Amino acid sequence: MTAAEDRAFAIPSGTVVLDKYRVEATLGTGSTGLVVKAVHTSLGTPVAIKFLLPSYAASSQAGSTFVKAAKAAAKISSEYVAKVFDSGSSHPYGPYFVMEYVDGEDLAKHLQRKGPLSIEAAIDVTVQAALALAEAHAAGVVHHNVKPANLIMTGPVGGASLIKVVDFGISQVLELAAMKTRVDVGASYYMSPEQISDGALDHRTDVYSLAVTLYELLTKTHPFTADSFADLELKVNTGRPTDIRQHRPEVAAEMSAVIAVAFSRKPEARYHTVGEFAAELAPWSSPATLVHIEALARREMRRSIGALPRSQRNIASQPPGAGPRAPAPALAPAAEPPESLRRVAPIEPKILPSELNKGDEGGSWILLAFGLAALIVLGVIIYLLVLG
Ligand SMILES: Nc1ncnc2c1ncn2[C@@H]1O[C@H](COP(=O)(O)OP(=O)(O)OP(=O)(O)O)[C@@H](O)[C@H]1O
Ligand SMILES: [Mg+2]
Repeated sequence: MTAAEDRAFAIPSGTVVLDKYRVEATLGTGSTGLVVKAVHTSLGTPVAIKFLLPSYAASSQAGSTFVKAAKAAAKISSEYVAKVFDSGSSHPYGPYFVMEYVDGEDLAKHLQRKGPLSIEAAIDVTVQAALALAEAHAAGVVHHNVKPANLIMTGPVGGASLIKVVDFGISQVLELAAMKTRVDVGASYYMSPEQISDGALDHRTDVYSLAVTLYELLTKTHPFTADSFADLELKVNTGRPTDIRQHRPEVAAEMSAVIAVAFSRKPEARYHTVGEFAAELAPWSSPATLVHIEALARREMRRSIGALPRSQRNIASQPPGAGPRAPAPALAPAAEPPESLRRVAPIEPKILPSELNKGDEGGSWILLAFGLAALIVLGVIIYLLVLG
């Protein structure tokens, strides 16, 4: 099978696939598959079905990777992730997975149509994507292909819109060697240095790609651009990303620095978790997004405490500085929440106005006792002087 055959791969509207879904429309063809909108023939519910492109379907390894990735995605439970209902291999269309149909527009198309987002809207999208990724990472699933095209937005841009992340792990069917020759270099702009060099990957590759996504949402361009894959690989591994302020001067220098940390070449120099990255964006977030950041910080903290041995859980839940800092394991964040999460998340219990003066009551009694003692001493002195 060839790339030309991939381009010709189509499923006409009206076709019933997998014995129960009637295809209504083609939603698009990406680097790995053809996505159609279909409706369940008896229930009438809409779904999106992704079929692996024929050139990959020919390789049993790509087919099983595709189905395995879909199975892993089905484990993620988050309102920010498009649910995966089913996966397998069909005749004659090959490997597929059935997912929730998201009635909206992906951010790549939105950028093409409307241009860059406002800073608050871009952060809102990034934080919602971080909420999805945090759940995935907790379930042991790494996305590997975070980019605007895989974030679908339902409703208008801004605090009211809901972002759904699609295509968890699906890009793994594309072997790097094949990608270098077959896929347009622009599709690789989101790859972390370790990904582009075919190194070992963990959840921190998603932190990097999420930062590239935020950069693009704000500028409609990328921190590294190149004419070829080899050129991109060289720049990502040895160059410096273009400061976002060169494309969007209104971005604060501090925010540019936050994004630069997420772009760090070494994974260990990046934020440990997507939640930590999201928390660093708090100063430029809208109030609605702050609520999401706080929820994410709380979830990550709960998870990191849950991952500790029972004996250490109390120490970890003590206020900052009360206990020793545990080393960060690969996937779970540090036992004590990172500095940034502690700064942003209002996890301390709120003090009611009626409780505000409670701590002073002890002090008032001591003062009164001292006053009385001083009066008695003064009385005794006057008495002695008068007698004397
Ligand atoms: N669950 C879904 N609901 C609605 N539309 C979807 C869904 N999944 C994908 N789409 C749309 O289908 C089209 C094709 O998606 P596809 O994932 O194949 O392309 P891509 O994201 O550009 O490439 P890739 O993910 O392979 O790198 C896109 O317009 C995307 O927005
Ligand atoms: Mg996609």
